[in-house]
Amino acid sequence: MRSADAGILGRVRLPLLLLLLICSSLLLLPQQSDARRTLAAAGAPASPIRAVNLGGWLLTEGWIQGNSLFNDIPNNDLLDGTQLQFKSVTQNRYLVADMGGGAAILADRVNASGWETFKLWRIDEMTFNFRVFGNQFVGVNSTGGVVATATTPGPSETFQLVRQDSDKSRVRIRASNGLFLQAKTMESVTADYGEDSDWGDDDPSVFVTNNVGSLHGEYQICNGYGVTKATQVLRNHWSTYITESDFSFIASSGLNAVRVPVGWWIASDPDPPLPFVGGSLQALDNAFSWAEKYNLGVIVDLHAAPGSQNPYEHSATRDGSQEWGTSDANIAQTVQVIEFLASRYAGRASLLAVELLNEPLAPGATLASIMKYYQDGYDAVRRHTSTAYVIMSNRLSASATELLQFAGGFSGAVLDVHYYNLFSSDFDSLTVEQNIDFVRNNRSSDLAAVTSQNGRPLTFVGEWVAEWEVQGATKTDYQRFAQVQEDVYGRATFGWAYWTLKNVNNHWSMQWMIQNGYITLNT
Ligand SMILES: *[C@@H]1O[C@H](CO)[C@@H](O)[C@H](O)[C@H]1NC(C)=O
Ligand SMILES: *[C@@H]1O[C@H](CO)[C@@H](O)[C@H](O)[C@H]1NC(C)=O
Ligand SMILES: *[C@@H]1O[C@H](CO)[C@@H](O)[C@H](O)[C@H]1NC(C)=O
Repeated sequence: MRSADAGILGRVRLPLLLLLLICSSLLLLPQQSDARRTLAAAGAPASPIRAVNLGGWLLTEGWIQGNSLFNDIPNNDLLDGTQLQFKSVTQNRYLVADMGGGAAILADRVNASGWETFKLWRIDEMTFNFRVFGNQFVGVNSTGGVVATATTPGPSETFQLVRQDSDKSRVRIRASNGLFLQAKTMESVTADYGEDSDWGDDDPSVFVTNNVGSLHGEYQICNGYGVTKATQVLRNHWSTYITESDFSFIASSGLNAVRVPVGWWIASDPDPPLPFVGGSLQALDNAFSWAEKYNLGVIVDLHAAPGSQNPYEHSATRDGSQEWGTSDANIAQTVQVIEFLASRYAGRASLLAVELLNEPLAPGATLASIMKYYQDGYDAVRRHTSTAYVIMSNRLSASATELLQFAGGFSGAVLDVHYYNLFSSDFDSLTVEQNIDFVRNNRSSDLAAVTSQNGRPLTFVGEWVAEWEVQGATKTDYQRFAQVQEDVYGRATFGWAYWTLKNVNNHWSMQWMIQNGYITLNT
């Protein structure tokens, strides 16, 4: 852990420090964005950052475009991470991984929950592995019994899902021995049923599926299309979804920066590991050029880290599992991604900040692994730039102050907190006034609790939105809700960023909110 005086310039005496800063600002002044110009002198940006996220651009989050990018994937309701439950039509019971995994598959459960839920790993549009609650894979053993014991999937853990033409929720499951799974009894599921079927309710090889969860992230779109088609679809998306005119709009709206979510594979562009595809780096380069033209800052935000730092699609997880931070090698690999981004963009005038990691979550991300990574990631950025801010995101569902003292030990560090009046039952029944009061009172004290008087670390509300659980709110209600958030989050010492620029859901689209007079930026 770093102490308060051991930042990058901590050992340099003050007069020398000032001299260095003056020289470096003189050198850099002509090219730098306003946002970045006075970092070294004042700590905080010259004008507070009022940014917008470019969500759903270089890192897929399907809902942002209403999942339309996934339209042309065959069987696009059977993507990686899709959660299926299987009810045997003859037993009228659900398949279950007995004990949650590590034992047999049975067909004796009246109700379905975790142990009765199977997560897909997609091989192709018809071929899958099934991962159970305990993370084992379903397979067929040497005597034809169906078990969940393998920790990695091989040929015996590979199945075809054959869907009934007239009702796609009815399936048969063909094992690698060519035979179909059948629920002979509640206690015996075997891979030994022949090809013929009339799909009747008396056929022990027929199962009715419930689809109880799905992911629409980068893993799903890339693996769903396959590398050739995914490359076409995504390159088209990257070059059309956000263009120079968006940067012009952002600048003319009174915003001064963009936060750009990226995935770890951008560092191995143009040939990232499968299933990811290359080309997003060129788009990020374009963002820097446009930002320079319109005098905007760029926050490069590592939103998806190797192994996934949370179970959400925006961490590019395959099936909801989160393995980031579980080994030193994984942390070192993530630091290399930061090193790549810092070295590539350190010389660009519009580089405002590097955000080391978005929304890490326990138990994958422990406090110890996060601190180790933030220390090493900070050092990696500083090897290339002494002026870019380094943003450290709080862990979700952890104490908001757990990183305060730690982050305060780094010069130019910023703590990122995300404030949504959503995603918790606390907000389910709040009225318009209660939502507004919550921001005015609770959020302002939350923000005050992480905002140090000496500006170390600086604070950033890196995601917020003028959306809530209220139904039927008026335009005036939305205007007031947006305004109170602007006012309160305007007290963050680094600034804020709206989630997101464009979205098929209007209130989540800052562009729509500005163009339709719901959000007015005080200039
Ligand atoms: C199944 O769920 C129903 C409804 O929630 C409940 O009444 C019943 O007790 C459950 N049955 C079993 C065997 O858990
Ligand atoms: C295969 O799995 C079934 C079901 O669990 C079990 O009864 C049988 O003993 C297993 N066969 C072998 C060879 O392990
Ligand atoms: C907001 O703060 C008030 C006063 O401290 C508290 O009573 C209330 O429970 C908080 N609201 C929520 C939703 O946490």
